[in-house]
Amino acid sequence: MYMNNKMIVCAVLLVSCFFSVVSASDSFVSYELFPDTAGEHINAHGAGVLEREGEYYLYGECKGRGNARGVSCYKSTDLYNWENMGMVLTTVDTPGDDIERGCIIERPKVIYNAKTGKYVMWFHLELRGRGYAAARTAVAVSNSPVGPFEYVKSFRPNSGIWPMNYPEEIYKAYSDCVKNSGSWMSDGDIGVFLARDIKPGQMARDMTLFVDDNGKAYNIHASEENQTLHICELTDDYLGFTGRYTRVLAGMSNEAPAIGKYKGRYYLLSSGCTGWAPNAARSAVAPTIWGPWRYEGNPCDGVNPHNKLGPDKTWGGQSTYLLPVSGKSGCFVAMFDVWRPRDQKDSRYLWLPAYINENKLVVVWQGDWSLDWFDRLDRKN
Ligand code: GAL
Repeated sequence: MYMNNKMIVCAVLLVSCFFSVVSASDSFVSYELFPDTAGEHINAHGAGVLEREGEYYLYGECKGRGNARGVSCYKSTDLYNWENMGMVLTTVDTPGDDIERGCIIERPKVIYNAKTGKYVMWFHLELRGRGYAAARTAVAVSNSPVGPFEYVKSFRPNSGIWPMNYPEEIYKAYSDCVKNSGSWMSDGDIGVFLARDIKPGQMARDMTLFVDDNGKAYNIHASEENQTLHICELTDDYLGFTGRYTRVLAGMSNEAPAIGKYKGRYYLLSSGCTGWAPNAARSAVAPTIWGPWRYEGNPCDGVNPHNKLGPDKTWGGQSTYLLPVSGKSGCFVAMFDVWRPRDQKDSRYLWLPAYINENKLVVVWQGDWSLDWFDRLDRKN
């Protein structure tokens, strides 16, 4: 076939375009666009990662300009290159349905249940038209990591049940002597919101899941008007709550929780409560999942050169997940979202190295790094 010069230039452009789209990545580049294997910015916000049989599955909020239309899934073998597996849970058009289009689906996380062979997704659900008032936790289930996930139910957990570390008697004794504190934080501390919600069930907003070495799984979420985190044990099939739960950092306004474990200790990464705007990250450590949790302050170090923000604004990000690095005990990829509330699908990601040093969580700014960064680490543990 005869090709003139223009056609040859076009062909070269097409071929180079094709190769630039499929060219593989071998590092994490924070804050900039995060292309999937088709070259599209990854649309999985408030995400978590499931590792299963040598493959990684990333689940997150699939956003439009505004709230999520459902949950997206991406697959990878190396954590750098992600293939879009499509939507695994989508809002529906049925009026009155819990996940009716217009509802808010946030921070989905998926875990695998070895006993049932099912993939279980939990997420924060807000019912259509009610802003953030419903504050429910919701569950969906699938036979495959790439879905589709079948929606099961949503609810406010632990109705009628007092937490293990804060039974009704303690609440009564404590609230009697500190009545009328007049301060939101003290009210959270005293358990005013906890007591208010004993009957209808506790609020459940920003959330994560954690599976312990013994297979027990936990749903950890911001409760009590976002004043206090609750760590709640899931049933053996991971589809419900057992009623065993504990309050963590009462009255300290933590959200965006993420949990990791190293040498028998549990590490919490979280944020303060300032909506889409960034604030300073927090951390805490505990000898058991039930506590006692000791507050350890801001674990972040370094400055993001793009926006000149450092630890006091978490580089512009908010935590979403601590992904254990396979074969590198005590090392994590700490995942954060940089929210862009006016065009949410354009929200960016910070995936940064995190590790445990001297029984504390440390998260370090790195603009462009790969997992061998951990090989050069000098840790005292
Ligand atoms: C943040 C929260 C996000 C989202 C947002 C809405 O504090 O972490 O997941 O709920 O508020 O304003």
